[in-house]
Amino acid sequence: MADISRLIEECSEWITPELERCFTDKQKEDITVKAAMYSLLGGGKRLRPLMMKMTAEMTGCPEELMDDVRYFAATLEMIHTYSLIHDDLPAMDNDDLRRGRPTCHKAFDEGIALLAGDLLLNSAYERLFAATIKNPGYAYASSCMCKLAGIEGMIGGQSIDLASEEKKISVELLVELQEKKTGALIETAIVTPFYLMNGMTEETAAGDKTVRLLKELAAHLGLAFQIKDDLLDVTSTAEVLGKSVGKDSRDDKSTFVTLLGIENAKKCLEDETSAAKRVLKNLAELGYDTEDYQILSDYMISREN
Ligand code: IPE
Ligand code: IPE
Ligand code: MG
Ligand code: MG
Ligand code: MG
Repeated sequence: MADISRLIEECSEWITPELERCFTDKQKEDITVKAAMYSLLGGGKRLRPLMMKMTAEMTGCPEELMDDVRYFAATLEMIHTYSLIHDDLPAMDNDDLRRGRPTCHKAFDEGIALLAGDLLLNSAYERLFAATIKNPGYAYASSCMCKLAGIEGMIGGQSIDLASEEKKISVELLVELQEKKTGALIETAIVTPFYLMNGMTEETAAGDKTVRLLKELAAHLGLAFQIKDDLLDVTSTAEVLGKSVGKDSRDDKSTFVTLLGIENAKKCLEDETSAAKRVLKNLAELGYDTEDYQILSDYMISREN
């Protein structure tokens, strides 16, 4: 029986070489590339690549396609890392600590951190185009990844997040904020391998039962993940978390904790995790082995960083 530490460790061994390869040795001499690599390789739980690996394994991805899944997983991790570099900038959350180390703009400077984030996003798109030119069956998966990183997804959520500082927003808007800010990239992670394996298009994805269940799973895991992120900001320490704590109340952010209080936020986290497990039961009924995703669902509650 696997446990979460083993799953995370195996994923890290799987994804790290691919991340190390994303720039050439010559490019790595550039200061912006150095800053991007500093953030990309400096720890992180690699949960999005882990979800991609788990969906691929759960839905029976052929061995010969696993390299492509890994390529897309590294691409998503580049987008996620860019979002963190920019999120930490003084103009956004102004954080000094990330993944247990100084944030990119502290280790380098603000201008280089801005460029490093831009570079990771740009390179991610370059990779998606390259993959699609080689295999046109990957076009839909690639376009969904771009869309969910944009205004309908992560950027849209970050936009609401900043606009909601010092305001009391409704729970409905907070849920929309999280669905976009965090949920969108988690959805990308969970569905992309299935799109790749099946060369899916908008039409084939729309009527597919597995896709519908994977999206439902992503919605619950994404919400659980962000509720826990908000809880850890008030209950953890910087040493354990690897990022500074207490910053949401410092910035007067709207979070599940500030809107609902700690106890209700914990209750919502449990409800979302249970809902994720119910979806996993439905996936198991379709014949999928959901054990690893059950372990990941429990980790949404128990994680300490
Ligand atoms: C942090 O994401 C940002 C949020 C979306 C809440 P993670 O907690 O996955 O960060 P890393 O990748 O492990 O550093
Ligand atoms: C940021 O959310 C999510 C991103 C899209 C980067 P947070 O601002 O809550 O993330 P942390 O707490 O700094 O990791
Ligand atoms: Mg933020
Ligand atoms: Mg932040
Ligand atoms: Mg946070």
